[in-house]
Amino acid sequence: MEFDTASPPSSPVTHALRGKVLLVTIDNPPVNALGVDVRRGLAAAIDAADSNDAVEAVLIVGAGRNFIAGADIREFGKPPQPPALPDVCNRIEASAKPVIAAIHGAALGGGLEVALAAHYRIAVAGAKLGLPEVTLGLLPGAGGTQRAPRLIGAEAALSLMLSGRHVGAQEALKLGLVDRVGHSDDVLAEGIAYAQELLAARAPVRRTRDAHGLADRAASEAAIAAARAAKKSHGLFSPQKIVDCVEAALNQPFDEGLRFERKQFVACLDSPQRAGLVHAFFAEREVQKAPETRNAEPRPLRTVGVVGGGTMGAGIAVAVLDAGLPVTMIERDDDALARGRANVEKVYDGLIAKGRLSADAKAQTLARLDGSTSYDALANVDLVIEAVFEDLPVKQAVFAELDRVCKPGAVLATNTSYLDIDAIAATTSRPQDVVGLHFFSPANIMKLLEVVVPARVSADVVATAFDLAKKLRKVPVRAGVCDGFIGNRLLAVYRTAADHLMEDGASPYQIDKAVREFGFPMGPYQVIDLAGGDIGWATRKRRAATRDPNARYVQIADRLCERGWFGQKTGRGFYLYPQGARTGSPDPEVEAIIAAERERAGIAPRAFSDDEIIRRYLAAMVNEGANVVHEGIALRPLDVDVTLIYGYGFPRHRGGPMHYADTVGLANVLADIREFAKEDPLFWRPSPLLVDLAERGATFASLNQSA
Ligand code: 3HC
Ligand code: NAI
Repeated sequence: MEFDTASPPSSPVTHALRGKVLLVTIDNPPVNALGVDVRRGLAAAIDAADSNDAVEAVLIVGAGRNFIAGADIREFGKPPQPPALPDVCNRIEASAKPVIAAIHGAALGGGLEVALAAHYRIAVAGAKLGLPEVTLGLLPGAGGTQRAPRLIGAEAALSLMLSGRHVGAQEALKLGLVDRVGHSDDVLAEGIAYAQELLAARAPVRRTRDAHGLADRAASEAAIAAARAAKKSHGLFSPQKIVDCVEAALNQPFDEGLRFERKQFVACLDSPQRAGLVHAFFAEREVQKAPETRNAEPRPLRTVGVVGGGTMGAGIAVAVLDAGLPVTMIERDDDALARGRANVEKVYDGLIAKGRLSADAKAQTLARLDGSTSYDALANVDLVIEAVFEDLPVKQAVFAELDRVCKPGAVLATNTSYLDIDAIAATTSRPQDVVGLHFFSPANIMKLLEVVVPARVSADVVATAFDLAKKLRKVPVRAGVCDGFIGNRLLAVYRTAADHLMEDGASPYQIDKAVREFGFPMGPYQVIDLAGGDIGWATRKRRAATRDPNARYVQIADRLCERGWFGQKTGRGFYLYPQGARTGSPDPEVEAIIAAERERAGIAPRAFSDDEIIRRYLAAMVNEGANVVHEGIALRPLDVDVTLIYGYGFPRHRGGPMHYADTVGLANVLADIREFAKEDPLFWRPSPLLVDLAERGATFASLNQSA
């Protein structure tokens, strides 16, 4: 007879006897995070098992799609509620009866730590095991830093904890993280069968705290030294602490090591990096929730057309091919089409050269790429992405062709960087089908996709754009139509702030260094040299006629471009690139040009500290971010944060410019802007939203609820 040990029906953790095995089920949608009720329920279940003679073993499983996704991230920063997870894990490990974890889906962070505290582990196909705390500015804080190295050795444990990567069931078996991989994906049946087998074999309680993964002291020390020397985690707080914890695991008794881990975990929890990374985690999920994705169904998406096979068209084609969809590319003539195809092939050849792709796989992928010089080839596609020259009449001509040939209901998208998408839509007979899909270069790699929503587009087209982003594994951000949408609009302003700093006395090299030290991978002048100075030059010339004559205009970049110094591709720009070097060195001639420009403009150069540079650079970014939110171009401040993190290299651990501004204090940012405005009131106009929030003592975070 089945004996139900009473667990309150409202608890997310229930337990029931299956023969001699107490089946403990965690059911806490959406991902079985270890909130306080789950922690209580788990501890109670182990108590129930220990006090019930009918129970000979305990089996822990997760309901739904996952085992346990980890600690409840929403509880971080709030007052702790007992029992603490490390205590729950200790309670599990101390159980006098064998505890078995049966893993399907995610066993991440605290979820894997629960499994490590169990005595035996089985995983089924599709399981994802990992200790991703580092991606949230944390370290495994429920015994993971002490148990994982004891179980699988210092090197493997460090690799998991420092990368945060997930491993599948087979790799977990190879590493020794699990004892067995189930034959089927029925986790419950596999778990029960394994538990019964262990009972039949009288398998003893086997505690990870007593495992011998660190027995080879020399190998452990070498792994710790190598991890300490690695530069990858530059500027981050928690990776070094993870290494410290593994060192403690090697040198201290288990309980001491746990205490050490706890202290380091709390230090990480209290760090601004943790707050920034957790903000980024939730923000990248919130951006998916645009109003249109909630209120409309996406249209079917089986075939895609791409118009233009240049830098962006080819990159977009690769992104779509990589998602398994067929692509039809349109170019102007046979030569251009051959170049477009070659651009696509080049990407795959690069992967083959690096040993990351086989020639067969390339051939299979390219079999899905079709090309034509006739728009008629697009008659049946579900979605077309236009990526031709950045010129309104050219794009309007393309859209006239698309309007002529595409089937009713096809989504017509443009990859324009700046142009007025309403004006493109208006020249078609179907403006409801026209949307912006702003990819970033290289389009097959960069994660950001701005979904630009013109006035007359229908909601299901926007939903289709978000659906495409999901298929391409990109992070979509909804943006309204304006010059530059969210990202490029902010970029124009903070680059201008950098130019002002340069003309006022900071060298481009100091500015780049300050920006890198803040956490960007590159400074603004390195980025210009990489992308090609000619692109911005062409834009500036195009806009010369409409520029406000009273606005300050720094001509330094124009002087470089007039000399043909476009950056890396010409061997010099703001930096020198001798013999095709990828990293530039400072150029005294550039400094002389800057000096001459200062003189021409009548500016006496002054010194700026790195901190002053960052304050101006960030204030410009934040102020324009506030403007795009105020104007409804971005739904919320978090959409600006995600755009800058995924498209412009903003350091994730600082959470994006708007989150960062909250940490600085909006009143302080506003005070800076008002101070800078004394020199240049036209450029430094405080955003009405920033003024309003700062005066009310409010934050950007207060505007981040789902729009
Ligand atoms: N805590 C709270 N909420 C969580 C969560 C967690 N650990 N993990 C996911 N969620 C929420 C998401 O915010 C989302 O909420 P929403 O629907 O309101 O937007 C919902 O669960 C579904 O998440 P996803 O959209 O990400 O679902 P997927 O199916 O794509 O992915 C997942 C599932 C792989 C589990 C992914 O959510 C994930 O990677 N989660 C985080 C895992 C993690 O980092 N765990 C470590 C936590 S730190 C820790 O454990 C500390 C410990 O050492 C003490
Ligand atoms: P590109 O010059 O590399 O490629 C443009 C391609 O379009 C060329 O191959 C050209 O032959 C083709 N083309 C021109 N007119 C055509 C027509 N009528 N029919 C078919 N093909 C035609 O330009 P790039 O850099 O790829 O830019 C394309 C678009 O993407 C522009 O709107 C640009 O603003 C935008 N964009 C560019 C980014 C970048 O970093 N390069 C980033 C994001 C957007």
